[in-house]
Amino acid sequence: MRKLAAGNWKMNGLGESLSEIRALAEAHPAPACDVLICPPSTLLARLSDAAGDAIATGAQDCHANETGAHTGDISAEMVADAGGTYVIVGHSERRTDHGETDDTVNAKARAAWRAGLSAIVCVGETLAQREAGEALSVVGAQVAGSVPDGARAANTVVAYEPVWAIGTGKVPTLEEIAEVHDDIRARLKARFGAEADGMRLLYGGSVKPGNAAEIFGTSNVDGALVGGASLKAEDFGGIIAALA
Ligand code: 13P
Repeated sequence: MRKLAAGNWKMNGLGESLSEIRALAEAHPAPACDVLICPPSTLLARLSDAAGDAIATGAQDCHANETGAHTGDISAEMVADAGGTYVIVGHSERRTDHGETDDTVNAKARAAWRAGLSAIVCVGETLAQREAGEALSVVGAQVAGSVPDGARAANTVVAYEPVWAIGTGKVPTLEEIAEVHDDIRARLKARFGAEADGMRLLYGGSVKPGNAAEIFGTSNVDGALVGGASLKAEDFGGIIAALA
């Protein structure tokens, strides 16, 4: 399957950041993997225009409903209207800051499909859960609850992001990453059969140009969800090159 290098800009980026996208598009006109940038929603339409054909764009969240009285929210249809083709749902920062549950995330993933988008469903354990030996059970329960019935390879990506590895410079060992990714694949196969073979499983959490190649070489890792190192064309370009 074609791997995916996905950048999550989080709450970073102003109009001037479009120059990073132009530089990325220029440096990687025909990348060997799929490339995606999820900027803040204020930049999505402009970034979609600037990104060109080789770089897909998406949002970092969407509301489950199509329209309505939900001040401050955006719908999956609005993401599509702004040129996005993906939406991240259930990022740990949204689970923590906004109290999102597996049920919320599940509804948002279905909203993404309704609008013709691919959902990137995020899961991951806290440090306390890992130290208690609960990583596989916590992640397994999140996958079970957050990935909706009817998921298909073409519209569903699962991102494993250990909460303790996000923005910390700490990365699990390759064995730990493989253990979780193998387990997620097995759970998806048990539920979705052969369709699960084509679902991309991303690793996220302190991925940098320097560690990307070894992470991408790990069992059942089909790409990365990158925060800090996706903000600069040079750093993200290094990660894209490592995926080739
Ligand atoms: P960092 O790459 O900055 O650790 O962030 C990972 C992340 O949360 C991507 O969604």
